Amino acid sequence: MITEEENNLLMCTGKGTLCGDLMRRYWQPAALSEELAADKPFAVQLFGEELVLFRDGTGTAAMIGRYCAHQGVDMMYGRVEPDGLRCLYHGWLFDTCGQVLLRGDWLPEKERRWDVGQPSYPVVENGGVIYAFMGAGAAPELPGHSAPQGEIKRLAREHSYWQGIVGLNEAAPADGQFFLPNLVRTGAFNRWLVPVDDKSHTEFLFHGVDLVQLAGAPLNNAGEHLLSAIRDNASAATSPS
Ligand code: FES
Repeated sequence: MITEEENNLLMCTGKGTLCGDLMRRYWQPAALSEELAADKPFAVQLFGEELVLFRDGTGTAAMIGRYCAHQGVDMMYGRVEPDGLRCLYHGWLFDTCGQVLLRGDWLPEKERRWDVGQPSYPVVENGGVIYAFMGAGAAPELPGHSAPQGEIKRLAREHSYWQGIVGLNEAAPADGQFFLPNLVRTGAFNRWLVPVDDKSHTEFLFHGVDLVQLAGAPLNNAGEHLLSAIRDNASAATSPS
């Protein structure tokens, strides 16, 4: 039985939380490639942040904050253009890094504030999945995989990512392994459990993944393993280098 403090440590994954900091050290699946059309934004929520994916004129995926930096209008109603995503309320155009490219001519010069923009995170597509890196500094190597398209599933779960891991642990403790804090393997299947908030998560399920470059740890005692990873990461961040 874990304590309330440990439960909070595992469940709070927003920006600035200890578990959130740990998970942001890794690439995380944000959507399937097939979910992101060329001409429409696609909303995602990852680790408590509301974001929007879109493709630029070359088809390259990008991810920026969901609400317009001007007056907070939902960019899901924005228009995809070759250079970025345009908010349809006052027409500000944001590039793939969330920077403002164009804004309304009717604004007085002193209100134009060219330095504002949306939050943005780098994304890459691999094997039919769009991955996002939401951490600070350089992104690590993307765990490679070779799952044929169509064999990857994305599932919305109405329970926490932690319950997904615990459930796996109970079902198949013998062959389960952790590869990332929220990426686990049992047998031929890999489950990547990405927290949406503390009560639900998105699960990416696939098999045939090559994770040889990452160290695996057994899923037995999943709670202890994850808590220790969170604490180790926090103390590494505060230790003098
Ligand atoms: S609210 Fe988006 S441009 Fe004004």
